[in-house]
Amino acid sequence: MSTNQSPINFYDEGERLPDILPDSPFPIFKQWFDQAMSEKLAPNCNSMILATIHSDGYADARTLLCKSIDVDAGSIMFYTNYNGMKGQQLADNPNASGTIHWDNYERQVRIRGTVIKATDAQSDAYFASRAIESRLGSWISDQSQPIESRDALLEKVVEVIDKLGIDAADLMNNKEITIPRPPHWGGYHLHAHTLELWSAGTGRIHDRARWTRDLNINGDQATVGQWSSTRLQP
Ligand SMILES: Cc1cc2nc3c(=O)[nH]c(=O)nc-3n(C[C@H](O)[C@H](O)[C@H](O)COP(=O)(O)O)c2cc1C
Repeated sequence: MSTNQSPINFYDEGERLPDILPDSPFPIFKQWFDQAMSEKLAPNCNSMILATIHSDGYADARTLLCKSIDVDAGSIMFYTNYNGMKGQQLADNPNASGTIHWDNYERQVRIRGTVIKATDAQSDAYFASRAIESRLGSWISDQSQPIESRDALLEKVVEVIDKLGIDAADLMNNKEITIPRPPHWGGYHLHAHTLELWSAGTGRIHDRARWTRDLNINGDQATVGQWSSTRLQP
């Protein structure tokens, strides 16, 4: 029986990936990302689950924000503390995966690949664009380290303001304050060797396609091959 003669119409709703899959999945990924970011149907519509590998061999996953997509390079960017748990895990093993789920659009993107640290200039530029509280927070938090109490954490705010020589009156008067980027904070590019696009379909007959390519990382350079693609059963 051909799909046209199917007694159930699995094509009456939902979205389909193109019948002929494009050479690269990144333009569709970027289009989905841009739509979510512009329509803002949910807070944190750029949140992504990043999974890394701990030295004990177990995967470790947490939410963070995917800040940009480079369609040409086939990579995405996120920012974090290089000394925190995920930073240590990525220093030991730079292979990682990211998953973005847009519930409002019934779409999912899965990326597997390898991270490269952003350049100082890239991290400086993004750091400078952050709200003052977030810039201070990057200095205050020894990410993933224990602390005895919330009060002890808040005491560090005062210490950091003092250490950075910030005038408390300037802070209270919302004056523009220059804060240097902490050396332990910055970006990563996650370069993809595999990317899967998923779009919900009627009766859980979802549309899935996976692209793969060779990826070689040498220092801070990524060399990639051509994408090849395949449709997957849901
Ligand atoms: C919506 C959301 C967004 C987040 N964004 C970031 C982020 O961009 N960078 C970051 O380091 N942590 C972010 N976090 C906190 C992380 O989930 C995590 O607690 C933190 O990075 C420490 O993880 P680690 O101990 O595995 O290094 C976010 C959490 C949530 C819930």
